[in-house]
Amino acid sequence: MLDTAQTGETSTREGAARETLLEVNNIEVIYNHVILVLKGVSLAVPRGGITALLGGNGAGKTTTLKAISNLLHSERGEVTKGTISYRGERVQDLDPAALVKRGVIQVMEGRHCFEHLTVEENLMTGAFTRRDGKAAVQRDLEMVYEYFPRLKERRKSQAGYTSGGEQQMCAIGRALMSRPEMVLLDEPSMGLAPQLVEQIFEIVKAVNEGEGVSFLLAEQNTNVALRYAHYGYILENGRVVMDGPAQALRENPDVKEFYLGMSDEGRKSFRDVRSYRRRKRWLA
Ligand SMILES: Nc1ncnc2c1ncn2[C@@H]1O[C@H](COP(=O)(O)OP(=O)(O)O)[C@@H](O)[C@H]1O
Ligand SMILES: [Mg+2]
Repeated sequence: MLDTAQTGETSTREGAARETLLEVNNIEVIYNHVILVLKGVSLAVPRGGITALLGGNGAGKTTTLKAISNLLHSERGEVTKGTISYRGERVQDLDPAALVKRGVIQVMEGRHCFEHLTVEENLMTGAFTRRDGKAAVQRDLEMVYEYFPRLKERRKSQAGYTSGGEQQMCAIGRALMSRPEMVLLDEPSMGLAPQLVEQIFEIVKAVNEGEGVSFLLAEQNTNVALRYAHYGYILENGRVVMDGPAQALRENPDVKEFYLGMSDEGRKSFRDVRSYRRRKRWLA
């Protein structure tokens, strides 16, 4: 009865159709009634996928994630146009807790842990909405420790005294304790040394493959994000300027030049590169 568009299927690299879990359709976000920040952003996240939302500082990545998880109100922000749906159901009027119940959880930028709690206590706070009993929660704690052996070593340490990498792991681990279907992960690489960034993305990949958790991850670090994601969207100034399978984006000359650091001029924007190319052609 339903055609492909209605069931929201997304084709994958394998050519198979996968269910679209999250669909953001042409949203506009305004802060303080006047500051227009998102100017029509659309994206889709399939079940089981790792989708990257890329773009420089101020592009609108965090705003997009907060719009999805209904966290804009506390920032005096509002979705003024467009729709957000999860598993085909409109979710933009729900409160954040109702979305967590549906299996969508956000790991905020800056890895917020409760500094005065131990690592393990932090992880346990992620399970507070669950009603499936202590044994199940204990099993998931062991599952988190398997993915993050470092957290197991540090489980009795006060989170405030652990390293930046450990705090990021703790924030992701806590999100996993709610048994999510989808994690919205905001700038996991921020402020971390390259080796740690790699470690964290390896764990994201392992959780994606091992537990089937879908990820929408916002990143300025295009290079690492496109090596782990299946699909990417590039945001500039509140608009999606390009999207495609991660491999196609990695090989795209404009992406290479402006986001993968292969130019000596430093990063500009697609708009600049187009006018630059035009000028070059014109002069030649
Ligand atoms: N609470 C807010 N009030 C007003 N403007 C904001 C607020 N939060 C973010 N902005 C603005 O929105 C734009 C996008 O910000 P953000 O979504 O944080 O980008 P990113 O996460 O890509 O760095 C920036 O210009 C930023 O200054
Ligand atoms: Mg941000």
